[in-house]
Amino acid sequence: MDARAEMQAADTGEAQAQAQAAQRAGAEVVLERVRRVRGSVIAVADVSMHVRPGECVALMGPSGSGKSTLLSAIGGLSRPDGGRVLVDGVAPEAHGGLAGYHRDVVGFIFQLHHLLPMLTAQGNVEVPLVAAGRPREARRKRALDLLDEVGLTGRTDHLPGELSGGERQRVAVARALANDPRLLLADEPTGALDSDNSARVLDLLETARIRRGTTMIVVTHDPAIADRADRVLHMLDGRLVAPPDA
Ligand SMILES: Nc1ncnc2c1ncn2[C@@H]1O[C@H](COP(=O)(O)OP(=O)(O)OP(=O)(O)O)[C@@H](O)[C@H]1O
Ligand SMILES: [Mg+2]
Repeated sequence: MDARAEMQAADTGEAQAQAQAAQRAGAEVVLERVRRVRGSVIAVADVSMHVRPGECVALMGPSGSGKSTLLSAIGGLSRPDGGRVLVDGVAPEAHGGLAGYHRDVVGFIFQLHHLLPMLTAQGNVEVPLVAAGRPREARRKRALDLLDEVGLTGRTDHLPGELSGGERQRVAVARALANDPRLLLADEPTGALDSDNSARVLDLLETARIRRGTTMIVVTHDPAIADRADRVLHMLDGRLVAPPDA
């Protein structure tokens, strides 16, 4: 394909992707008595909850209370030892296998960023777009736009090892949003950020919510996120509990 044809294909691909994304509302997440045992620890003890499409839920709780474990079960990264995770009424793997679930439904911002060390910031953001079969020019534009939005315009060619912790975290945010997920799972997305960059990431998440109706479950210690959430859930010893000051 010559450069012009590729640009046109990219434009068409972009327009189609936007049209598809606009039609997609956020996913519904239902947990029915989800249990997860890690060695001798009951990391998640029979947690039930219902997150409505487009809702933003902040998940708070002390270290070790089971927040990351719960998020990974919702994200299909681990299978519950008991109970069920239902996303739009079916198990995560029913969305075209786990690969389909991760490509088409869910975006994940991990507590430890899990960037691919051999790819640049731009390359990392493009990974989900490659999986979704988006044309090269559309991928490049989407990745650069997202990196711009998280304030990394001058760092797009850097490898993760050449980025600060907060910069890596922002690349991970951009990557998680690349495919306009219907469900965003974020594990302390502003944990390593100063207040300016934290506000930037929150604005980006807010934009995704407004534009796409993305459902969000965000593990956080950050009161700024909790303030913006529709609902705050608290975990303690693997269970959902009433807020500490209630
Ligand atoms: N691989 C493992 N083997 C045994 N126990 C584990 C394992 N992974 C996690 N745990 C235990 O499960 C519990 C829940 O861990 P989890 O990572 O979900 O906590 P968290 O709420 O995310 O904590 P933090 O705020 O520190 O990230 C902890 O007590 C932890 O020690
Ligand atoms: Mg954790």
